[in-house]
Amino acid sequence: MNIEKIRQGVKGNIGREILFYPVIDSTNTAAFEKALNSKEGLVILAESQLKGKGRLGRTWVSPPGLNIYMSIVLKPLIELTDATLITIMAAVACTITLRKISGLEITIKWPNDLIFRNRKIGGILTELKSEHKKIVFAVLGIGINVNADLKDFPEDIRNIATSLRDETKKSFSRTEVLIELLNELNKWYEVLLTNRKVIVDKWKELTSTIGKKVKVVTVQETFEGIAQDIDEKGALILKLQNGEQKKIISGDLTILS
Ligand code: BTN
Repeated sequence: MNIEKIRQGVKGNIGREILFYPVIDSTNTAAFEKALNSKEGLVILAESQLKGKGRLGRTWVSPPGLNIYMSIVLKPLIELTDATLITIMAAVACTITLRKISGLEITIKWPNDLIFRNRKIGGILTELKSEHKKIVFAVLGIGINVNADLKDFPEDIRNIATSLRDETKKSFSRTEVLIELLNELNKWYEVLLTNRKVIVDKWKELTSTIGKKVKVVTVQETFEGIAQDIDEKGALILKLQNGEQKKIISGDLTILS
């Protein structure tokens, strides 16, 4: 990764300042620690993570020198109840970038998995600090499997993970991917602050979840049904077998058919 080239190639607030670490526990944890005293748009990049974090307390496997591990500090003036839109926005920017760079028809699985051939090629983890029902800051963490080979992943995730290289048999410059991605994030972050409907509509265009039979595991319950839509805040609208509609704000979704 050429950090200087990335700095020069990025237009906008996100990526104006970049901190780079060869090894780190987790770029999200580091960004969280620095966020209060840093400007919006600070980017933390690492070549590898020792304690990469995934959603729902999972681990994000982070082999060195191959993939993208990035966290961004954001301070959006939006309501706490709209925070999921940050992740929806990032999923849109990542999908557009990866499609442009690779030509693969990558899609979004609700809420924010980047998938190809039903395998995960990237993930997003947003962590928030809030006070009095307001967002103090958000850390937007993005992991993208760029040049990793399946053998770089532990056996138990080899049948659910993939990478740009694995799918195209080509290597990609992470510097180029990051320049494209940061520019796309700058663009869509503006849209989030000004016209959120455009984000949700774009997400719907890029998802492969709507219309599918799905299973959703939430903290309390498990639901099965047809994924009908997402609402204006990014919540999933599920049509249950008994015809009832259920709104789900957060959960783990599996596509059944
Ligand atoms: C998921 O479970 O899908 C979310 C994965 C998010 C991984 C990224 S890698 C960079 C940042 N730092 C972390 O520890 N996690 C996120």
